[in-house]
Amino acid sequence: MRQLFEKLKTASLEEIRGAKNADALRQIEVKYLGRNGEFTVLIKGLKDLPADEKPSAGKLANEIKIALTEAIRGRREILEQETLAQESNTEFFDTTVPGAHYEIGHIHPISQMQYEVERIFGEMGFSIMDGPEMESEYYNFEGLNIPATHPARDMQDTFFVKNKFHDFHGKMVMRTHTSPVQIRTMERYGAPLRIIVPGRVFRYEATDAGHDSTFNQVEGLLIDKNISLAHLKGIMIEFLTRLFGKPIKVRFRPGYFPFVEPGLELDLSCVLCNMKGCRVCKHTGWMEFMGAGMVHPNVLKAGKIDPKIYQGWAFGFGLTRLTMLKYGIDDIRLFSSGNLKFLNQF
Ligand code: DAH
Repeated sequence: MRQLFEKLKTASLEEIRGAKNADALRQIEVKYLGRNGEFTVLIKGLKDLPADEKPSAGKLANEIKIALTEAIRGRREILEQETLAQESNTEFFDTTVPGAHYEIGHIHPISQMQYEVERIFGEMGFSIMDGPEMESEYYNFEGLNIPATHPARDMQDTFFVKNKFHDFHGKMVMRTHTSPVQIRTMERYGAPLRIIVPGRVFRYEATDAGHDSTFNQVEGLLIDKNISLAHLKGIMIEFLTRLFGKPIKVRFRPGYFPFVEPGLELDLSCVLCNMKGCRVCKHTGWMEFMGAGMVHPNVLKAGKIDPKIYQGWAFGFGLTRLTMLKYGIDDIRLFSSGNLKFLNQF
């Protein structure tokens, strides 16, 4: 009896594993486990066994029945998966091939530099301000103490916008510098102030490798009580040292700008030769960096700040020029050229 059971088990399991499809599997199931299946018939014969053999034979029969049912269920699952895979995926798919690469673009080098400058000044407690690129003559010139006789007021230097007039504010111009935002910010927030203003400015000039009609500047303004140029020196040494990642020295030279008094030019130690002398710094060890000075009392007044109580300094440097310096770019026109061979290097 035991041998009969084992033989049946081996044969049926082999058939189940070899079933080619669901129909074939179903037939095998009927053949063994159906009402008149070979296995069912054997079990029915158990009742004729001697009483002492019955329990162990019954146990064996039960185990085999479970094994067969399990094997059929397992085989059915495999067959179902195979059919699914065939239906949904007739083409060969190589999962080891790398995915398609999409060009998603990146941040323009001048914007990258701007974010860096904003980060460093932000860490030193400066707020970032913004202002309109089309300005009134008042904010761009008069309010900044720039007289009508100043060369910047000339049509040859500035883009004037046609037919835009205002009684007090004069004509509209494309701002020639970021300095107008000094007055706008003073008007709106009063003193004390600690801001930088990155932005685009426009000049009516012949373009060459060093000049473009559109470029970027960063304005700085700090207003408080008891402020001196020593604070400006400290802030600029800290800013430039953090930006270039190495110790930078600065020096002041006298300079003239109508909106500061006294006015000055700030040079930084040559970042290329570390003051040993090179072609770029013309063997002086210094590079011109920016204009600055103590804010002129007339400018504070234009911003509704009392010059008897508050004073401060302002500066303006070329963000475009700083980017050229940092990356050794020798033609300013590349920035707005849309030339991907250039832009993709950043
Ligand atoms: N606005 C000046 C320019 O465009 C730069 C400048 C110089 C800004 C001195 C300042 C300053 O705030 O104090 O050339």
